Amino acid sequence: MPESVQPVTPVTFPPAFLWGAATSAYQIEGAVREDGRTPSIWDTFSHTPGKTAGGDNGDIAVDHYHRFRDDVALMADLGLNAYRFSISWSRVQPTGRGPAVQRGLDFYRSLVDELLEKGVKPAVTLYHWDLPQELEDAGGWPARDTAYRFAEYAQIVGEALGDRVEQWITLNEPWCSAFLGYGSGVHAPGRTDGAAALRAAHHLNLAHGLGTTALRSVMPARNSVAVSLNSSVVRPLSQDPADLAAARRIDDLANGVFHGPMLHGAYPESLLSATADVTDWSFVQDGDLRTAHQPLDALGINYYTPTLVSAPDRAPQGPRSDGHGASDHSPWPGSEDVAFHQTPGERTEMGWTIDPTGLHELIMRFSREAPGVPLYITENGAAYDDKPDGDGRVHDPERIAYLHSHLSAVRRAITDGADVRGYYLWSLMDNFEWAYGYGKRFGAVYVDYATLARTPKSSAHWYGRAARSGVLPELDTL
Ligand code: FCB
Repeated sequence: MPESVQPVTPVTFPPAFLWGAATSAYQIEGAVREDGRTPSIWDTFSHTPGKTAGGDNGDIAVDHYHRFRDDVALMADLGLNAYRFSISWSRVQPTGRGPAVQRGLDFYRSLVDELLEKGVKPAVTLYHWDLPQELEDAGGWPARDTAYRFAEYAQIVGEALGDRVEQWITLNEPWCSAFLGYGSGVHAPGRTDGAAALRAAHHLNLAHGLGTTALRSVMPARNSVAVSLNSSVVRPLSQDPADLAAARRIDDLANGVFHGPMLHGAYPESLLSATADVTDWSFVQDGDLRTAHQPLDALGINYYTPTLVSAPDRAPQGPRSDGHGASDHSPWPGSEDVAFHQTPGERTEMGWTIDPTGLHELIMRFSREAPGVPLYITENGAAYDDKPDGDGRVHDPERIAYLHSHLSAVRRAITDGADVRGYYLWSLMDNFEWAYGYGKRFGAVYVDYATLARTPKSSAHWYGRAARSGVLPELDTL
């Protein structure tokens, strides 16, 4: 094991560290037609034949909308002190514009109050991929107006919850929204147009900036505004100059496209030139990059697995996506010839290689690129084919090992000087895993989809012990 992730025992975290779990609205809420909610792009996409495994959709999901009090109690009983969830835009603002629906806001107020009462700190994500369908019909993220609509929505939610929620995240993984939603088409709305994907990326940058400003205009100054990026750890297959160039290309399209505007106020020149055949970037208007480049109070890092690439002539090629689903269309506009490879090593049920060194690397990169900005791991976790045993218990030692090694990598980064303040495990409970439907279980809590009963897996108990003590329990004490 490389030095940077070797666990030092005991692995102890700072006393104020947040031990959380994360979810998102469409993946857990269900109740898609209740209290004025209208369809989002994920309702439409999941109801389109052939788009999700088994035709699964989020109509019921895990019925969190009706069971949130039990779910909050479960978190509190386990010992978690933080919870990251997202707001369903079309529950709050059904047409994506205009006045808010009070019942939608009331649901989130009740959820937040329940969390606060139980001592669990809420972190709100405004956008976790579920654009109101009406806004997609008006052009979606490739249309500039969507960024302004997002700012209006951010202000509505900021006004409603800003007095009681301190931690805010504008967007979750804008890379997936842009490049899987409009490039490879494996995510909603399922378009396959590289130029549209780049336009979408720009309008997401703009939305982040406008949304941050809108939130700050209505919230107490103590609140923190962040964005959650699934920045890739891109590694070249070899030190051959052609492989190094391929890695730089993908790094621009995976990371530079958002780090550039959000953290540095400019797109990398190399990104603009590599995509010149796809688009002339004329949709970038004067002042946009200044708008996107807002000071951040924190940064969210979502990490699962590294990416291994090479020049096209190095066989064999892996799937042409980031692992959220296969497609004949590339999510990498202008770099369709880059070859993707499977990183060697053990894999999770998603086929994603387990490599905690990537998390350490990413944290250290953000520490350099955004010096002085507190960091949170806003997602990290693993899917396994969990099943209850004869006594109804769900034992998931692989997930415990995954969490142990990745939390150890976080601890090592803190020792190396990174300001990491918290960790949100993906996910609190099994849920609708996008194009994979209910077939992939990421939860620390098992959900029986026939009865919707929740059963904490052994990893939930392990993680709860870590949260209560601030020290990772040894693997051999299980
Ligand atoms: C991330 C998503 C999250 C979940 C995990 C496995 O990319 O943000 O909703 O699907 O992957």
